[in-house]
Amino acid sequence: SCSRDQMIIDAGQKHFGAVGCKSCGMIYTAGSPEDEAQHIQHHERFLEALRYVAEDVREIVDNELGFKQVALSCPAKTKTYLFVSNERMIVGCLVAESIKQAFRVLAEPVAAQSPGQDPLQQHRAWRCSTRPEPAICGVSRIWVLGLARRKGVARRMVDVVRSTFMYGSYLSTEEIAFSDPTPDGKLFATRYCGT
Ligand code: ACO
Ligand code: ZN
Repeated sequence: SCSRDQMIIDAGQKHFGAVGCKSCGMIYTAGSPEDEAQHIQHHERFLEALRYVAEDVREIVDNELGFKQVALSCPAKTKTYLFVSNERMIVGCLVAESIKQAFRVLAEPVAAQSPGQDPLQQHRAWRCSTRPEPAICGVSRIWVLGLARRKGVARRMVDVVRSTFMYGSYLSTEEIAFSDPTPDGKLFATRYCGT
């Protein structure tokens, strides 16, 4: 379903005495109503903070890519990857979703390059094949902070997606598809996939 994930309190209810929560790291006394209540409060705040970070980043990315609608249509089918720099800043974001098929982008028609055309319209002019091909993972958004571009961040994010998206297999470049790419996105995808 597409409902928001429920938070799981991993508190080891059967134990008494000092326990450490595997999710939020808090050490508290199980069986003490006061401690348990304090833990639940800390636990929820901790996980909410992490969730908000990812949602804020996605909003920034959506704004830059010109997406109007902020919420993802089906969060349960998507995975968000964040790239954290050595300076502890989020400099990359990739949203991947499970797909069954994709349509190959065909060689660029000359008309799409005509000068004076709105660049946002230009990339939509690329033609797609009408024949669906099987695919597993759709990259619906990929974004790297301006200052951090052309340093291999996007390449490394896609490498990680390929090795982690489907448990136990490394996806080939044929099995991933970039949805409605921008000019930057198309240049990157073309180079990455070696097409
Ligand atoms: N122009 C030409 N070639 C490029 C470009 C570009 N703008 N970007 C990447 N490449 C090619 C290069 O060959 C590059 O290798 P090189 O630097 O050694 O020449 C190779 O792709 C790998 O590039 P990375 O450094 O891994 O890419 P980067 O981290 O800069 O991120 C991205 C690329 C995500 C497209 C970035 O430019 C960006 O965020 N742009 C703005 C947002 C955007 O348009 N995102 C794509 C939307 S489409 C979608 O989301 C499905
Ligand atoms: Zn906890």
